[in-house]
Amino acid sequence: MKMVPDPLKGKKIILGVTGGIAAYKSAILIRGLVSRGAEVRVIMTPSALEFITPLTLSTLSSNPVVVNTFPVSQKNGVDLQTWHIEYALWADAAIISPATVNTIAKIVHGFADNALTSVIMALRCPLIVAPAADTDMYNNPITQKNITELKNYGAFVVEPENGFLASGLSGIGRMANTDKIIDAAEIVLSGYKKDLNGKKILVTAGPTLEDIDPVRFIGNRSSGKMGYAIAKAAFLRGADVTLISGPTAEKIYPEINLVKIRSAAQMKNAVESHIKKNDALIMAAAVADYKPAKYSGSKIKKEQNLKSLALTTTDDILASLKKDDKIIVGFALETENEIKNADKKLKSKNLDFIVLNSLKDSGAAIENDTNKITILYPKGSKQTGKKQFPLLSKFQTANNILNELKKLF
Ligand code: CTP
Repeated sequence: MKMVPDPLKGKKIILGVTGGIAAYKSAILIRGLVSRGAEVRVIMTPSALEFITPLTLSTLSSNPVVVNTFPVSQKNGVDLQTWHIEYALWADAAIISPATVNTIAKIVHGFADNALTSVIMALRCPLIVAPAADTDMYNNPITQKNITELKNYGAFVVEPENGFLASGLSGIGRMANTDKIIDAAEIVLSGYKKDLNGKKILVTAGPTLEDIDPVRFIGNRSSGKMGYAIAKAAFLRGADVTLISGPTAEKIYPEINLVKIRSAAQMKNAVESHIKKNDALIMAAAVADYKPAKYSGSKIKKEQNLKSLALTTTDDILASLKKDDKIIVGFALETENEIKNADKKLKSKNLDFIVLNSLKDSGAAIENDTNKITILYPKGSKQTGKKQFPLLSKFQTANNILNELKKLF
């Protein structure tokens, strides 16, 4: 990946680890944060020691791990340390992962009875909390009330997911995937909040594949990364997200309503049926413009000596869509006369804005983890003119697109 600025680079993060089985995942979380250039200092609660050793976490973070509130090295005399205040002032963000129902309850009620809760009480920076508990402990109305309170106090809660639990039960309570916690840290450290709360956003992503016969298709090189990054960023910023996706290798958060399609025609049907329930559509998919004129139900054999394939055009989803009061955002992938071509699409598809990628920019668009975009607005829009953005990760690009979308709500 081409080097782009990383919002996590150089950031100072306190990681609080509490006593739940998901504590083993804190090793992976530290690795992820450190590999992005963050500095991590770990504080463990005494019960976390039952699940993972401080040696593992100090080795991975290259920093000492704090467990005790009071210095244990000092046998006599007074050690004048206010380390908990220094830690709190040092941090750009704090993450508690996993956060047990016990620690959540303590924080909400202002307890400072161990090293971690003492630091949390003194924090000036944002706090990210990833709860983990067995399903009944998590669903307990007391826990639910505490989590609501935690949010009211301004914490960014990365909700647990559904799945197998250590008890053998299945249900909500599994700690969020560590990749999602790192995405949340990026959102928070970039200064975003749940600013899309209550918005319903429909995103399309990936290629469409147009089948020739049961084993062959016409496709394109779209990886789906841009659309998936938009869906993730919108979800973390509070939106209710539906993602209509062509075949890709990308993974999405379980809370996002994923609608899998294959062809342009299926994508058109899915967009038309979902647009009604959404406030905005971001059409990042690379929809095929052509499909075989005739699908062969049986495999085309070599002996048939096929010399050419008759094609027909697919429907243009954006151009044929009934806009009503929805905000519609399109993409334009160009190789030449970029602005002129994108502007033409902006008008002909009646879009609120268009996101232009040029294949002339290295590191941009198809298959890359980075993108370089220009956003064009139509004449007469609340926003006008064109906005150029530098080469950034697709996740940062996604957030920039969402910032523009937000202005139109
Ligand atoms: N699009 C669509 N339906 C299609 C083709 C494209 O809705 N059948 C959407 C894309 O999702 C994108 C926008 O239209 O948001 C522009 O797509 P692009 O491939 O850049 O342009 P096309 O209109 O297909 O024109 P061309 O391929 O000739 O550049």
